[in-house]
Amino acid sequence: MSDPQKQLVQRYDLVTPMLPVKDQILADFERILMSGQYILGDEVRLLEREMAEQCGVAAAVGVASGSEALYLALAMAGVRPGTEVITTPYTFEATIEAIIMLYARPVLVDIRPHDLNIDPSRIEAAITPRTRAILPVHIFGAPADMDPIQEIAKRNDLQVIVDMAQAWGTLYKGRPCGSMGRMSTLSFYPTKNLPGIGDGGLIFCREAEDAERIRQLRGHKALWINKNLYCGWNSRLDEVQAMVIRHRLARFPEEQRDRDRVAKIYDDLIPKANRLAVEDLDRGTQVTYHQYWVRCKARDRLQHRLASEGIDTGIYYDPPLHHHPLMEYCRCEGSLNQAEVAGREVLTLPIHAALPFAQAERIGKLVAEFLVRQEEAVD
Ligand SMILES: Cc1ncc(COP(=O)(O)O)c(C=O)c1O
Repeated sequence: MSDPQKQLVQRYDLVTPMLPVKDQILADFERILMSGQYILGDEVRLLEREMAEQCGVAAAVGVASGSEALYLALAMAGVRPGTEVITTPYTFEATIEAIIMLYARPVLVDIRPHDLNIDPSRIEAAITPRTRAILPVHIFGAPADMDPIQEIAKRNDLQVIVDMAQAWGTLYKGRPCGSMGRMSTLSFYPTKNLPGIGDGGLIFCREAEDAERIRQLRGHKALWINKNLYCGWNSRLDEVQAMVIRHRLARFPEEQRDRDRVAKIYDDLIPKANRLAVEDLDRGTQVTYHQYWVRCKARDRLQHRLASEGIDTGIYYDPPLHHHPLMEYCRCEGSLNQAEVAGREVLTLPIHAALPFAQAERIGKLVAEFLVRQEEAVD
């Protein structure tokens, strides 16, 4: 048997979690193949219903990707040319691309260092008469602080659209992500915690009317809404994706238990100051751990140290979006220093449903040893 100390550990394992449902997927694939119903059939309808029920919202609409979900939800929220949307610079570029594709302006405000999410205390300063919406992102699966965000939106008559591409399974004070804001958008990209085997996305709608309109738009139907003409197009989820996602949805609680256990192993070994600090655990907040991150000033050396032990790690949003070429179309409100520092310091560790706990233990210990040596070098 190979020595577990020497094994290579990849950040993602997309195949092993498929194995328990492989036979069912293959049988269902044959059924769909022979049915001739390839787009928007029963699988999509059932997936939409099951996911809306789990979030306790009026409806969910399957679309072609998480990016399209954002575009459609923002359009429904009245984001139009010349309007502004307040969001975070510490996110994947799809978040701001969707705003820019609507000829609106992303306005970036800084994040909080303990959870890397948009800092609600900085949002109000960014509001102008052009602001139409706030777009928080539950980054790496940790919930943004939604209560103050929703209060600010209410006070200023703004819409809240939530990018929960990375956060299926996350709870904020006991409420499922997907149940907050006017609409929330999800991605089924294969590395996500609830994955397809290709592109796909979903929009959770609190209002049935939003869902109805999005269903029309995703199928090439032009719509007049408040004297504005919306152009329909093709943004449909296909049956094979929906079928695979439904099988993974059924297994999701089991997979989440394994991710939680890995996160607990890391939490027990890595000092609190170097990792996510989850607020409101006692009020039912839960993190889905799309990524588990550590931060340290010598991040690149930590990455090399882990690589020398065969451990694959990730660097995200370095530099953050205010250094992206698309910044031409954005506006920054105040300093974005926390996002800047996070970009330099954050490293993500392997966490997925197929990661052996012994490997998590080994990785956690290596990180902890590295951090202690760093401290000693500074003293
Ligand atoms: C935060 C965030 N928003 C949006 C998206 C876009 O999703 P998709 O790749 O399905 O278009 C992603 C995907 O990685 C994401 O991480």
